Amino acid sequence: MTEQIQVVVGAAIIRGGALLAAQRADPPQLRGRWELPGGKVDPGETDIDALIRECKEELGVLVKPRQRVGGDVGFPRRAQGPPAILRVWVAELIEGEPAALEHLSLRWLRAEALTEVDWLPADVPFIDDIRPHLVG
Ligand code: C5P
Repeated sequence: MTEQIQVVVGAAIIRGGALLAAQRADPPQLRGRWELPGGKVDPGETDIDALIRECKEELGVLVKPRQRVGGDVGFPRRAQGPPAILRVWVAELIEGEPAALEHLSLRWLRAEALTEVDWLPADVPFIDDIRPHLVG
């Protein structure tokens, strides 16, 4: 039997030249670290549908994924779960104002502040892919 890979999706929500970063509340070992909002793709769900669902659940907003950036970035998971990969899309805010419904806090980061926060390891490689989208 082939081992399933858990796909996790993240949204690079950009507005006015700034990227939305979200500070995790849990699990305890990730608490306080920063991520692109998103989460696990459910069985039978498309990546895009998962991205839209997660942004609704976590931030209370409607987003439109515009363009995928970067590749599949693998990261280790706890316990005996399947290996996981993170995929990221630049997403446009369509409706609502982001709120930290499941996170400790949110920050809008301009280009010069992108590396100021302690990103989760899987998110780090995407920051350089997102950077060009903050201008123009
Ligand atoms: O948000 P959720 O708990 O569903 O995400 C599952 C796992 O994916 C997290 O525990 C975290 O390790 C990882 N993740 C990540 N970067 C993100 C979102 C999630 O590394 N932007």
